Amino acid sequence: MAGSALELVADLSGNVLTLTGMKLLAGPATNVSVEAPFLVQIPKVGRVRIDPKNAGFEGKLDVPAGTRKEFFLQELVVLNVSADTRFKLVFTKVSTSPGKAPNRECTALDLFKSSAVPAFRQFIDTVPDPQLDAASFPDGGAPPAACVSCHTGGEDSPDASETPTEVVATQAMDLRSLDRDDKVACAQARAWINFGNREASLLLTNPQGKGNTLHPLKGVPANHPVVEGIRKWVAAEQP
Ligand code: HEC
Repeated sequence: MAGSALELVADLSGNVLTLTGMKLLAGPATNVSVEAPFLVQIPKVGRVRIDPKNAGFEGKLDVPAGTRKEFFLQELVVLNVSADTRFKLVFTKVSTSPGKAPNRECTALDLFKSSAVPAFRQFIDTVPDPQLDAASFPDGGAPPAACVSCHTGGEDSPDASETPTEVVATQAMDLRSLDRDDKVACAQARAWINFGNREASLLLTNPQGKGNTLHPLKGVPANHPVVEGIRKWVAAEQP
């Protein structure tokens, strides 16, 4: 399963662990198929807990090489968790077969540079991060930001002053190589084009506040220059 990854957002509140936005990304050369996964809870003290019915999913999931799919119901709530509990994810069955990732290189790089990148640099309103901004912005406001404000702030950003939001953002869509190597940045962004329904691409729905519910943008109208700028390039990319 080389290069495959399970993506999720984990939030521990009291002793309730909530996993959301779960997705499985299959490695670039492997079709991945998994069945009925469940969590095994390993507390620091006490017995290992296994409860596939409540802390697991039923059914089968097939993910073609190099693509990302919603992981079953995408959400899992686990009770009686303490901060030092460890978890294992067990699959009832896993199988793989050799596969080939769809074309990852951009086919409309010029439009990416002339239309999408300027849009990525334009500032729009954000939603405050409850963990970070509550102290800095007590009235609930948060400063406007551009896509590049968050999506270029990964672990090895030059000033090492990135916030957790920026690290997560850059893990999801890495635009750090903009200007240095636009081809690489373009391929990263392209991974979020939904070729079956381009208008439903998270690249377009996230800025409109209609995509990932955890995405920290307030949302602009569908005809806003930021959306238009990205859309023009998204429309031109070939699968
Ligand atoms: C305030 C920070 C912030 C800004 C500004 C921001 N993003 Fe994000 N973005 C995030 C975070 C955090 C994630 C990861 C969300 C997750 O994993 O649930 C993300 C993820 C994404 C993803 C991957 C899909 C997903 O939802 O996980 C896309 C595509 C995306 N953002 C597009 C954009 C675009 C386009 C812009 C500019 C119009 C933008 N983002 C601006 C923080 C930001």
